[in-house]
Amino acid sequence: MQTFLRGRDLISDLDFSKEEVETLLDVAWDLKRKRAVGEPHPYLRDRTLGMLFFFSSTRTRCSFESGMAQLGGHAAFIESRTTQISHGDTAREIGEILGRYFDGIAIRHCDWKVGNDYINTVAAASRAPVLNMQCDIYHPFQCLADLMTIQEKKGRDLRRKKIVVSWAYASSYLKPISVPQSLILQMPRFGMDVTLSYPKEFMLMPEIEEEAKAQARKYGTGFEIVHDMEEGFRDADVVYAKSWGPLLTTDDPVAGKKLQDKYQDWITDAAKMKLADPGAIYMHPLPADRDIEVTSEVMDGPQSVVFDQAENRLHVQKAAMALTMW
Ligand code: CP
Repeated sequence: MQTFLRGRDLISDLDFSKEEVETLLDVAWDLKRKRAVGEPHPYLRDRTLGMLFFFSSTRTRCSFESGMAQLGGHAAFIESRTTQISHGDTAREIGEILGRYFDGIAIRHCDWKVGNDYINTVAAASRAPVLNMQCDIYHPFQCLADLMTIQEKKGRDLRRKKIVVSWAYASSYLKPISVPQSLILQMPRFGMDVTLSYPKEFMLMPEIEEEAKAQARKYGTGFEIVHDMEEGFRDADVVYAKSWGPLLTTDDPVAGKKLQDKYQDWITDAAKMKLADPGAIYMHPLPADRDIEVTSEVMDGPQSVVFDQAENRLHVQKAAMALTMW
């Protein structure tokens, strides 16, 4: 168990070693139990978190804000539009200044080819730890909540369990690629065989796919890429199907939407779920395009764990804050 995480940033999924992630999950289980029995746990009394958003959020904002209060501290919600960032505050200045006001800085910045650089620049200048609430490349806290949920449903030993990380059609907007990228990086470390499934134009960043393959080799797990939704679902223990934009093919939203519209049959429905293991769980980070990305029958059905998954955001984030911000 690696216990000294004070002051550490969590920006990429692999910033914490496997052992450090195990520590974080141990703390998350303990915090979940404490909340269940109403046991106070004010580990961060008088501490503050600055939460800087460049992009909208429901779960991330609410779970960080509530989590910080439950730990006895305070979280400040800051929207980039209501700051002086557009009038000249640079990322380095934000790191220097917010790092002096707050005991931790959390940032969501999903702009393609901008967000991750921004967060790293803030982190380099900040004396307080920086937590990535989602960027263009990674969504580490979503992925930690996903891992916790899979362990709850499938047991702590996930060796030889198959997760399919599948693209799905959505019509609302071109969603970031950070969720599937985080999943394929983290899950091999915990023994899961990963199948990544997408139409050819929806590939992920080549360096992330290569790193995921390297992680799978290191941990002796399976990793494959297929381009057929049904093939991906076959015999899966965990179905994780969501939409993302074809950003590696085009970052033009009009061209991207046109590409996306070619694949409207990539919907998670009861027929496709039947291809998975009969005990398979269905996961989605939300928000989903209901009856477009996934049918309501699946989303609200017995295999869906989406609400437990959303709840676990709270517990893993509290664990990360308690470990890094004291
Ligand atoms: N899953 C997730 O990050 O949700 P929000 O965008 O609502 O924060």
